[in-house]
Amino acid sequence: MNGFDTIPRDKLPELLRTAPKAELHIHIEGSLEPELIFKLAQRNGVALAYPTVEALRAAYAFTDLQSFLDIYYAGASVLLKEQDFFDMAWAYFERAAADNVVHAELFFDPQTHTARGVDIGTVIRGLHHACQRAQAELGISAALILCFLRHLSEDDALATLDAALPYRQHFVGVGLDSSERGHPPEKFARVFAKARELGLHLVAHAGEEGPPAYIESALDVLKVERIDHGVRCLEDPALVQRLAALRMPLTVCPLSNVKLCVFKDLSQHTLPALLEAGLCATVNSDDPAYFGGYLNQNLLETFAALPQLGAAQAYQVLRNSFEASFVSADQRAHWIAQLDAAFGAAAATPVPR
Ligand code: ADE
Ligand code: ZN
Repeated sequence: MNGFDTIPRDKLPELLRTAPKAELHIHIEGSLEPELIFKLAQRNGVALAYPTVEALRAAYAFTDLQSFLDIYYAGASVLLKEQDFFDMAWAYFERAAADNVVHAELFFDPQTHTARGVDIGTVIRGLHHACQRAQAELGISAALILCFLRHLSEDDALATLDAALPYRQHFVGVGLDSSERGHPPEKFARVFAKARELGLHLVAHAGEEGPPAYIESALDVLKVERIDHGVRCLEDPALVQRLAALRMPLTVCPLSNVKLCVFKDLSQHTLPALLEAGLCATVNSDDPAYFGGYLNQNLLETFAALPQLGAAQAYQVLRNSFEASFVSADQRAHWIAQLDAAFGAAAATPVPR
């Protein structure tokens, strides 16, 4: 594969922890930890349905995507002011820095906030300031991707894109998230065409709970550059071949998939099959405050649970994270050289006898 299969398995956890990496699938509202939800609720005088942090955390037992989304949107109701959006994103960046994330592309859901009367500028300015400070103080490069909620209408998405245009320089792309079943990508053909004309990058959740046909229409109708999740592509061998030939990135989220019952447990996860098929799969945290861990936790638990995954696959998923990122070719090459150095050093260290 890439020569790194000589690195012994017992070196993997340290290598996964310390290697440079990019995160491409993180909903920033999904990084709101219960403690911060309570702090913001108190600061803003928002009533919560749960009396304590522990009671809220105990409710994080999901049966499918919708059961999670109901709690996730309720959690986001504490976000009202620019400072709240800044605090949320800053808390994520501090955790990302501890995981040696050097680049992060953050999804945000403006409609979750504008529907409660929060101005879209408040949302974007708060997040943007956190991105600027992450670069300045933590050395993390960060970009924002505005997501449309697919359970709402396309007209609502079009109005949201229009409202965001004064802040066009603060986001690099648009995405599509929320309830997948019954809301196929083609419902958003016009708003994605408009975003494309504006020069924005395009991504969409597809094939998380929805069928492989949704992955196809995300490619054909929306013309996306990455598929978020995409794990159900394996049900359609012709689609797998197409995705592999295109080197179409899949931003896979293993702990999320288990928490939302897409797979029974991590040992059943199909990340090994995706890589074996030559797909450009990456590992991401999705909604880390709700699903049991940030990026390194996803990597460590997934590689521990699946014996088919060794150092060669670790290198591949981390390299894929840079290859799939929306950065310049020079920046990408710089991080890949750092990654090569980290794995090269581990391969060069003699195995003790
Ligand atoms: N919004 C936040 N997390 C999501 C997920 N895993 N799928 C769809 N929409 C989401
Ligand atoms: Zn997601």
